[in-house]
Amino acid sequence: MKKHYDIIIVGSGVAGLSTLLYLIASEAYIKGNLSIAVIAKGAIDETNTDWAQGGIAAVAAMQDNYEKHIEDTMNAGGYVNDIHIVKKVVQSGPAIMHDLLDWGICLDKKTDGTFDLVKEGGHSEARIWHYQDTTGHALQMALTNNIPTTQKLDLKTNNTVLGIEKDINGIFHLLNYHNETKFTENLSCDKLVLATGGLGTVFEKTTNQSIATGDGIYFSHHLGAKISNLSYIQFHPTGLYKEGPISFLISEALRGAGAILVNKIGESFMHQYDERGSLAPRDIVSRSILSEMQKTNSSHVYLDATKVDTIYLATHFPNIINKCKEILNLNIFQDLIPVIPTQHYSCGGIAVNEYGESTIAGLFAIGECANTGLHGANRLASNSLLEAIAFAKFATSQLLKKTVLTSSIIASEDIKLPKYKEIERLPIQKIISNHAGVTKSNKGLNIGLEALYQISDSAPFIEFDINNKDAIKLWENHIILELSIMLIKDALEQKKNIGVHYNVDLLLFS
Ligand code: FAD
Ligand code: SIN
Repeated sequence: MKKHYDIIIVGSGVAGLSTLLYLIASEAYIKGNLSIAVIAKGAIDETNTDWAQGGIAAVAAMQDNYEKHIEDTMNAGGYVNDIHIVKKVVQSGPAIMHDLLDWGICLDKKTDGTFDLVKEGGHSEARIWHYQDTTGHALQMALTNNIPTTQKLDLKTNNTVLGIEKDINGIFHLLNYHNETKFTENLSCDKLVLATGGLGTVFEKTTNQSIATGDGIYFSHHLGAKISNLSYIQFHPTGLYKEGPISFLISEALRGAGAILVNKIGESFMHQYDERGSLAPRDIVSRSILSEMQKTNSSHVYLDATKVDTIYLATHFPNIINKCKEILNLNIFQDLIPVIPTQHYSCGGIAVNEYGESTIAGLFAIGECANTGLHGANRLASNSLLEAIAFAKFATSQLLKKTVLTSSIIASEDIKLPKYKEIERLPIQKIISNHAGVTKSNKGLNIGLEALYQISDSAPFIEFDINNKDAIKLWENHIILELSIMLIKDALEQKKNIGVHYNVDLLLFS
């Protein structure tokens, strides 16, 4: 018998869990009239959220104000942001911080007892709330600690949603696969929240967790929802330069604390490219680094943190200090840190309105998988955690509205296991990384698209085999291929260079 819920939330990061926490505070839930399931394909904290470093942007300090945060967000986004959304999210910042503190998040304070707000690239004021350089972990823990254990809530970790359909009644049907027991089950719900995060693994190197395969965007596309600006991919200027698909992030907050980018002969170069130097917006810094690498014929540049006050460095960046030691045996008090622009964040995604509703009734998208209009053509640092919590809050009233059935016919057919194209992941990632990276060209994009079509055309469809230990990975490869094709097509449709979109064949937009 298929289990039905009022609301299913797919995702256990900041978007999924803050949606849950706002919902369980509702009268409907408290009175026992709201059933909810949360599904996550890994452990509860196997999320990009858990890896967030720098912090959460929100106005608080005396010298700061909403206008400044709004202007910084618009400026980073190339002024194509949705101004209504920017105002709404920025103005919700203080209340969101209040909610987070209520949920018990631990954030750094100064010796005078006030919160220790820091600066990151593109911010005109110090407004980043943080816990050392592991804010995401502090956030993930606070949210997780508030999950209730009641019958009205089913928490399904290590469960991958493999299929979503919507019936003529407006009910969503999900096929859920338990990664370890190989057990599949069909679930249904009135309202569905996709909080599935980004798509970093589409690229050869990313700062994202391996769960970031863009599943929510893929499902939404197949349900017919509008997907927008999928090619607006933000590269973080300072991914640690090393072998392997996942790059450890060197937080922008380190540049906020005074670390500077230098080339292979130790020369500071950013001021030749932008007067804001190492703290210019990420798109500018990433392009400048690539240009400097080309000029100096190097495979990477360096971040020099050796002049940052040692006590400040030790107290604010213990994780970066430890990880650089562990991964490359570097002592960042003395050694330069090798860095390279690395895929980091998806600014586009499932198009939603100010309540997180997609173009499909009852289908919500919150967090990195959504395109809310906040970021425009480039996200301002530390605005995404704020955005996810703000939209979780904005969505609550719509999620609590009862669904009106559009037909008396009840469709209860089970969803079949998916078919997918059996392909390898790395060749796709290489194509995307080579042709749809920081700098694009029409020729490169067309070569990339053709190569992806060839991979797609030559691969047969196969049935999802629940007993194959690699079944999930193979199925994700199929998603990665489809999203890669969508991403390149979107890049080819972009008409101007703005924010993260930079195509050498387009005239510069200013
Ligand atoms: P996630 O936290 O990634 O969660 C996605 C969830 O969806 C997971 O639980 C996953 O299991 C689940 N899921 C996905 N597909 C399926 C499926 N098919 N079935 C079941 N479950 C599924 N932003 C800031 O604002 N400040 C920062 O300091 C900051 N630092 C960052 C540092 C790093 C290294 C990275 C990678 C990102 C950083 N970001 C930062 C960005 C920010 O962390 C993310 O945008 C945000 O955490 C995304 O949250 P989310 O809830 O949308 O997705
Ligand atoms: C960082 O700490 O540099 C990441 C911040 C972000 O992605 O917003």
